[in-house]
Amino acid sequence: MSFIGKGLNSFFKGKKHTVSNDADRSLPSHIDIIMDGNGRWAKNHNRPRTYGHSQGSAKFREITRYCDSIGLKYLTVYAFSTENWRRPQSEVAAIMKIFKEYMEEALSDFTNENIVIRFIGDRSPLAPELVDLMNRCEQATKDKTGLVCNIAVNYGGRQEIVFAAQRIAQKCLDGLISPSDITEDMISSHTYTAGQNDPDLIIRPSGEKRISNFLIWQSAYAEYYFDDILWPDYTVEALEEAISEFNKRNRRFGGI
Ligand code: FPP
Repeated sequence: MSFIGKGLNSFFKGKKHTVSNDADRSLPSHIDIIMDGNGRWAKNHNRPRTYGHSQGSAKFREITRYCDSIGLKYLTVYAFSTENWRRPQSEVAAIMKIFKEYMEEALSDFTNENIVIRFIGDRSPLAPELVDLMNRCEQATKDKTGLVCNIAVNYGGRQEIVFAAQRIAQKCLDGLISPSDITEDMISSHTYTAGQNDPDLIIRPSGEKRISNFLIWQSAYAEYYFDDILWPDYTVEALEEAISEFNKRNRRFGGI
């Protein structure tokens, strides 16, 4: 069954999915998006890279609203990786300013929305003002009942696994657990996405076909979807296409 052209919005309206891989698989439970291509989009439009990031931020808002409207449970977006500090300082500063503006707007203008905002990643090197806004956004939206939107800022999948290992090792040293108590579930419960369904569908637009250290623990059984659209040009229709393709995949989780 193809949803293309009909609009998933109307199809999914009112549906709330709670379990991945159940009989009703028409909407994934958890979608991740690597928002890539802002710089190339800006170059194509003869604009500075920072303008591409602003357009990317506006696109992020549009897509989160859409995901909430169709009843998606979790959306995780890759906004800034642990490797993105290697960019020119001026670009890093511009991206941080965009985060700040987004959070200020969220606190003042998105109060009628039902989206839970969460941040994943290491906040320790971020400006205290930014961390304060992150905490306030999380606090202000924690009791909402719609989409849970995880925004990955200074996030790295390997770093996340190191942090989990350190915290578990400390529990061993404290005598709370022994090494043989360590299970996959225990490691999952020490990741930033503890308590959430693992990603079902990971989308990377812009033509790049790599994971870039994104949710590498959680994505063990995720389906990947790549397309060529630069993030500021991304559309609801492109997302629908990715979800339709996801529905054609045969997920066996190691079984037959
Ligand atoms: C990747 O494109 C994009 C980034 C590293 C920054 C992403 C930031 C946003 C989309 C803004 C998000 C805003 C909020 C509020 C969450 P790129 O610069 O690597 O593009 P390129 O590969 O074409 O150079």
